[in-house]
Amino acid sequence: MTLKTITSPERMYQWVSRAVLEGRKVGVVPTMGALHEGHLSLVDAAKAECDLVVATIFVNPTQFAAGEDLDQYPRPLENDLRHLKEGGASIAFCPAMEEIYPRGYSTYVSPPEIAAPFEGLHRPDHFRGVATIVLKLFQMVPAQVAFFGQKDYQQTLVVKKMVEDFNLPIEIRVCPILREPDGLAMSSRNVFLSDEQRGRAVAISKVLAEIEPEILRLTDHSSALKNRLTGVMETARKRLEVKVDKIHYLDVVDAQTLQSISDTTTEVVIVAAADVGDTRLLDNRLVKIR
Ligand code: PAF
Repeated sequence: MTLKTITSPERMYQWVSRAVLEGRKVGVVPTMGALHEGHLSLVDAAKAECDLVVATIFVNPTQFAAGEDLDQYPRPLENDLRHLKEGGASIAFCPAMEEIYPRGYSTYVSPPEIAAPFEGLHRPDHFRGVATIVLKLFQMVPAQVAFFGQKDYQQTLVVKKMVEDFNLPIEIRVCPILREPDGLAMSSRNVFLSDEQRGRAVAISKVLAEIEPEILRLTDHSSALKNRLTGVMETARKRLEVKVDKIHYLDVVDAQTLQSISDTTTEVVIVAAADVGDTRLLDNRLVKIR
């Protein structure tokens, strides 16, 4: 399988439009590069459903705040292209910064309300940047289906709501988190962890995995799950606190609304964000409760 690399948004748009006109189904996998098996599982999911797969590689500055790791973010382009070729993607779309945010660029998407809690509280303009770049990528790559990883769970909700609110003609698929053998969620940022930090980082997935059976144990068909979980979450927080350097949040909420669990909640998500050293790690687990 040959991999074509395209850098021009116009060429990218023409290529996908032509393929769609010819009756082919095109899938897009938006990424910031530094590809790992998690990204490649998105390419696999796209290949299973589509005739052609476009993977985008663009480290989007507008989703990083000042002082975050934009400059340090890994950019192993050659390696990424090799992975995409071996993974069977059809096109790598790698636009230059000036193509995406030329001088004078000033239009941004105001993200939906679901962007407000968790990441939105801790990284105020993050989802404004994500929604803007994802909308732009969908314009440049007019594919029929887009594939995102569940690891950035809130991001998937933001993107789905934006697609609905803007009537975008694209379907969103969310693919499961890929984990290292010990459970750590795969992330491009894991390369920043020293051996010692890597050993502690696994606590995040372990604590989430321990909360899941507690939720199932406390679940019945009445309300008040939220109150009965308070003790479970306090214990979980204490267990995590001693392993990581900072917990940004650790919570269980309704998986659709990211609000408190209510009588109508059918699925919850356990969400966590924590720093290990200077590396901010995210993880989550979905649990059906009814
Ligand atoms: O999940 C990511 O890698 C990024 O947030 C995305 C969706 C590619 C937008 O830059």
